[in-house]
Amino acid sequence: MARDIIIAPSILSADFAKLGEEVRAIDAAGCDWIHVDVMDGHFVPNITIGPQVVAALRPHSKKIFDVHLMIAPADAYLEAFATAGADIITVHAEAGPHFDRSLQLIRALGKKAGVAINPSTPENVISYVLDRVDLILVMTVNPGFGGQSFIAAMADKIRRVRQMIGTRPIHLEIDGGATPETAKIAAAAGANVLVAGSAVFAGGRYQANIAAIRAAAAGAIAER
Ligand code: DX5
Ligand code: ZN
Repeated sequence: MARDIIIAPSILSADFAKLGEEVRAIDAAGCDWIHVDVMDGHFVPNITIGPQVVAALRPHSKKIFDVHLMIAPADAYLEAFATAGADIITVHAEAGPHFDRSLQLIRALGKKAGVAINPSTPENVISYVLDRVDLILVMTVNPGFGGQSFIAAMADKIRRVRQMIGTRPIHLEIDGGATPETAKIAAAAGANVLVAGSAVFAGGRYQANIAAIRAAAAGAIAER
């Protein structure tokens, strides 16, 4: 089944001094979604932005805001991100003991629910929430920073998660170290959503960078 590739630039690699302008620029450059990395300095060793910034960015693009919560606990903030304009809210399976409840909360807020798993987390942690999610995010780096290298061992996990998804309408997203080269690996293994930060914002050539990642992934799927 040919899956359309979705490119979701991570604004973590954008110029934080002009985030609104950057969101408009990647929108115009042909991205499909906008990946917003929220970090609390507790779940991950970095701090970024909160719901107020998401709300401030919302008017700058009509494209899907794919909000990746690297925060723990997450439940207390889900409504704020939903109100701020998130379309997809992804929580980490590692962020607390009750992420089934978190996923139910996200859907009750009228948003798409995503679950993210870190590189060392086995994929079977999501076995009992497959009917609660619209997106599974396989981290291909340890969360917290852009510009890291794709962890090659994750290709196997992507394949296994794609098998777990079966015919369910669930997006398989990878996040971290995506380049045209690693996009081929991830897409061939079954990912259909590619988050890319540094590879999109490199050199200010947003349109060309997005197109290169998309072409590489599409080519890998065509070769399967
Ligand atoms: C890392 C974030 C990723 C990161 C991707 O914790 O979740 O979205 O910004 O950046 P690159 O593509 O540069 O690895
Ligand atoms: Zn992310």
